[in-house]
Amino acid sequence: MTWRSTILTLFPEMFPGPLAHSLAGRALKDGKWSLETIDIRDFAHDKHQTVDDTCVGGGAGMVLKADIVDAALTHACNQYPHEPPALIYLTPRGEPLRQSRVRSFMQDHPTGCILLCGRYEGVDDRVIEKWREERGLLEISIGDYILSGGEIAALTFMDACVRLLPGVVNKQESLESESFELDLLEFPQYTKPQIWQGKVVPEILLSGDHKKIAAWRHKQAEQITEVRRPDLWQAYLTKHPSGQR
Ligand code: ADE
Repeated sequence: MTWRSTILTLFPEMFPGPLAHSLAGRALKDGKWSLETIDIRDFAHDKHQTVDDTCVGGGAGMVLKADIVDAALTHACNQYPHEPPALIYLTPRGEPLRQSRVRSFMQDHPTGCILLCGRYEGVDDRVIEKWREERGLLEISIGDYILSGGEIAALTFMDACVRLLPGVVNKQESLESESFELDLLEFPQYTKPQIWQGKVVPEILLSGDHKKIAAWRHKQAEQITEVRRPDLWQAYLTKHPSGQR
């Protein structure tokens, strides 16, 4: 089965961009997932191909028009006559994206998604409200900062999704031990040589004792999380009371 994505954007040339490379790029070539873009400007209906207008109530910047975004979303949904796809609007006002959410999203929507990328000051809120109410459109943010548009957020979201598809990341165990999958930041990793510029790889990793290595790594992950991300650490302690030292 191919995981299918459709991106609504004013900048279709930004796709697949970085997703044509590395693991996602290989999986795209192999047909494990597909990507189509829809140019929002194609739904403009005046001779200047206008897609935006000034903010009602005053203020700087331009807002994407409701009728144009609505027509683009309708067109995108018509491409999926059999399975209604997940609909996502990338916006800093959305639910903050976390690994657990990517996982649940991929379980709930295994066939793919339609992603709407905003630009300028945003999208007329009425069209977002309509699609939220009628089609369960989700709003997702990739972090508490403002990007110039949703495109980079969409690429980030898709990369996180695609690497969970079966056969994209080689070893399932490399996904499972990863940062966040265990609600902790990742333990430090090393490769050869054993001594580099006077810095040594921790002795225990050379012991060959897999149990001890796993315990050391877990401890490291806990310590790093506690120091760097007190928010994640508190959540971890609530979820895994035995993690308390
Ligand atoms: N568009 C602009 N900034 C964004 C963000 N942080 N997340 C998602 N979409 C965005």
